[in-house]
Amino acid sequence: MMALSSKPSCLAKISAICLAVTFIALFLYFESQSPLCPSTSTFADELTSEGTVPTEKPIVLLWFWPLDVKFDFKICSTYFNISSCILTDDRSMYSRAEGVIIFHKGINWHLNNIPKDPRPSFQKWIWFHVESPTNTLKIPGLENLFNLTLSYRRDADIVVRNEVTIKKEEMKDVFVLPKKDKVLCWIVSNNVASTGTSTREKYYNELSKHIKIELFGSAHTGRRLSYEDYYPTLASCKFYLSFENSLHKDYFVEKVNGPLVAGSVPVVMGPPRENYEQFIPNGSFIHVNDFPDAKSLAEFLQQLDKDDKAYMGYFEWRKYYDVLPHLLTVAKQFIQPTCLACDHIAKYKEYNVVNDLYEWYFTPELQ
Ligand SMILES: *[C@@H]1O[C@H](CO)[C@@H](O)[C@H](O)[C@H]1NC(C)=O
Ligand SMILES: *[C@@H]1O[C@H](CO)[C@@H](O)[C@H](O)[C@H]1NC(C)=O
Ligand SMILES: *[C@@H]1O[C@H](CO)[C@@H](O)[C@H](O)[C@H]1NC(C)=O
Repeated sequence: MMALSSKPSCLAKISAICLAVTFIALFLYFESQSPLCPSTSTFADELTSEGTVPTEKPIVLLWFWPLDVKFDFKICSTYFNISSCILTDDRSMYSRAEGVIIFHKGINWHLNNIPKDPRPSFQKWIWFHVESPTNTLKIPGLENLFNLTLSYRRDADIVVRNEVTIKKEEMKDVFVLPKKDKVLCWIVSNNVASTGTSTREKYYNELSKHIKIELFGSAHTGRRLSYEDYYPTLASCKFYLSFENSLHKDYFVEKVNGPLVAGSVPVVMGPPRENYEQFIPNGSFIHVNDFPDAKSLAEFLQQLDKDDKAYMGYFEWRKYYDVLPHLLTVAKQFIQPTCLACDHIAKYKEYNVVNDLYEWYFTPELQ
């Protein structure tokens, strides 16, 4: 755990240090139970010192805490270098907020827990949702209500994904393959059929007849893999099953990012290969659809396991591109979207209306 003071102003003082620390240190921090600074509901030192809101930064109001999990808004600045808005959860600032982030799962069926009219003419409501369509409740009456969408979908107004980025020339360091003691692994915590998992469970059952699969996570072992063990476990496996719970356009997120970051090869099941290739290099992953059946996939993996040169080919992309670790834990996955929404409101002033939210979200779908 990082040794940090707990004075309200600590972040300002140590921000320079914070920016310099490695991701490892940040993960350690994120794992710590105590918040970096005492919780403040508004992210702006200017606001507290003067008691007034500076006009140059827009106010963005987080209407619901996603799944009721709170975090310190200052993380936007320390982790994502975003400080372009004033984030708050203080609903009394509603009439002055340029953006209002509304978490879909927080909305009740009768819509009586979302902001009441009148809505200021400058205000944008942001629909915040990161579940796949299979796991989305179609709450009625959300048409012509929102101005922006915040989702993993690339055609959302605010896209939240772990992106592969182009490497800076001077940083073309040589990739060193982590030490491997397992061939194929799978961390799975959810096998509830109603969330759409039966396809991947069936495939897993078939695949496991032909190749050994090392299992982690509560669904099959009854034991949750600790967050500290997440990246090291991925790194120790040559291949990793990145099987989504349900199959939808653009729907793959941290299950692919994890192995890419750790230095393992994701074996993906989700949307078609072409959809993956829009986001990650074509030589960085193996798609189950590339094989007629689980048996041929197993044979291919066993062959690659014996052929170091061919296996290393799956890391060629690292010469040119970078991946960043994602924040672990369910709660922490909401931080980045919130920060991105803040930044979007600060940067884009265009008028916008989302007419038929569900028409957009549920179509076009995969054939
Ligand atoms: C943080 O963002 C500011 C402007 O938004 C930029 O000037 C600065 O270089 C960024 N710092 C880092 C460490 O990326
Ligand atoms: C992957 O992309 C490269 C560069 O765009 C291309 O030359 C290659 O044929 C592609 N490979 C596959 C398997 O699609
Ligand atoms: C936001 O959407 C609402 C509802 O569709 C619309 O009335 C309003 O003019 C929009 N405002 C902005 C700033 O885009």
